Amino acid sequence: QEPVKAGLLGLGTVGRGVYKILRDNAANITRKVGAPVQISRVLVRDTAKKREVEIEPALLTDNIDDILDDPEIGVVVEVIGGIHPALDYVLAALERGKSVVTANKDMIALHGKELYAAAAAGGVDLLFEGSVAGGIPVIRPLKQCLAANRIQTVMGIINGTTNYMLTRMTREGCSFEHALQDAREKGYAEADPAADVEGVDAARKLAILASIAFNSRITVHDVYVEGITRITARDIAYARELNYVIKLLGIAKETADGVEVRVHPTFIPVGHPLAAVNDVFNAIFIRGDAVGETMFYGRGAGEMPTGSAVAADLMDAARNRLHHVPGLISCTCFEQKPLKPTGL
Ligand code: NAP
Ligand code: HSE
Repeated sequence: QEPVKAGLLGLGTVGRGVYKILRDNAANITRKVGAPVQISRVLVRDTAKKREVEIEPALLTDNIDDILDDPEIGVVVEVIGGIHPALDYVLAALERGKSVVTANKDMIALHGKELYAAAAAGGVDLLFEGSVAGGIPVIRPLKQCLAANRIQTVMGIINGTTNYMLTRMTREGCSFEHALQDAREKGYAEADPAADVEGVDAARKLAILASIAFNSRITVHDVYVEGITRITARDIAYARELNYVIKLLGIAKETADGVEVRVHPTFIPVGHPLAAVNDVFNAIFIRGDAVGETMFYGRGAGEMPTGSAVAADLMDAARNRLHHVPGLISCTCFEQKPLKPTGL
């Protein structure tokens, strides 16, 4: 069987994870997809840079056209991050009939609608499971397994960096700066970690989840955002004294006045399940009218957990191409619904 060929944009934390999973689990992946899935080209900024993963130098390129113009490449996996040039590359790939897999919440939260339209027009897949909560399956469950429900609430810890920092600050009395440095070294933080600590990364993810949950077009600009930059050791000690822990929560609810979307630090009673979610772990509660409460838990960032979600999307996109049904699992239509103003 001929391999399904993919172009990987980015070989940083997530790109490395995807590359390693495809290499190490090749036999298993081939069996499940029905053909080998091969990364045939990798776009990076600097082809001469020493890499943390062994890779044939001939695979590396700094020219996007080597991927976009290659008719054998059917799937583009975007893990370079940011809006530009990622958005231009992804739109160009969709317009050329290539399926796209991305972990870029920044891009999906701002340009999701436009990207969906481009994917639908080209009849190709646009998959982004890795964009929310790292390795935790949550987008597909929300879109597919819970599709029959009227979703009432989506709530949880959806940023690994800040949860890791708050855990270290609480348990070890570690300083904010030290905890952030550690999270960056572990590959959890965004290229600009201000997005993590100021709550913007969580807001992007909440916008994606809320758009799907409420079939509504919610962008990052609609989310009330407050990060953890003003949390002090004193706040943490005060919370502990009262039997609470501080967590950065993302909350999206359907109310009589419209959808309410907010991200902010929250006091959680120590006995609450979210209080026990520590380190880089994330947890998301989803309440639907039929299913009741469901909870999704796991590692919310990092090379292998995020690689796991992206590689699975790549497998789906590859399988769909193989069976000539791309676009089957990515269709979503968003209505415009009112948003409840949130002033805390
Ligand atoms: P990263 O470690 O900074 O890696 C970025 C990669 O993209 C690098 O290989 C870099 O090339 C390449 N790149 C950046 N700009 C480029 C450009 N203009 N042209 C060509 N190549 C370019 O980033 P990451 O942590 O893997 O994150 C990637 C994406 O995944 C982001 O959207 C992020 O939000 C998302 N994400 C990350 C995590 C995580 O745990 N880190 C989890 C979920 C989602 P060089 O290597 O040559 O510099
Ligand atoms: N910086 C993000 C986080 C990466 O810490 O959650 C995963 O999306």
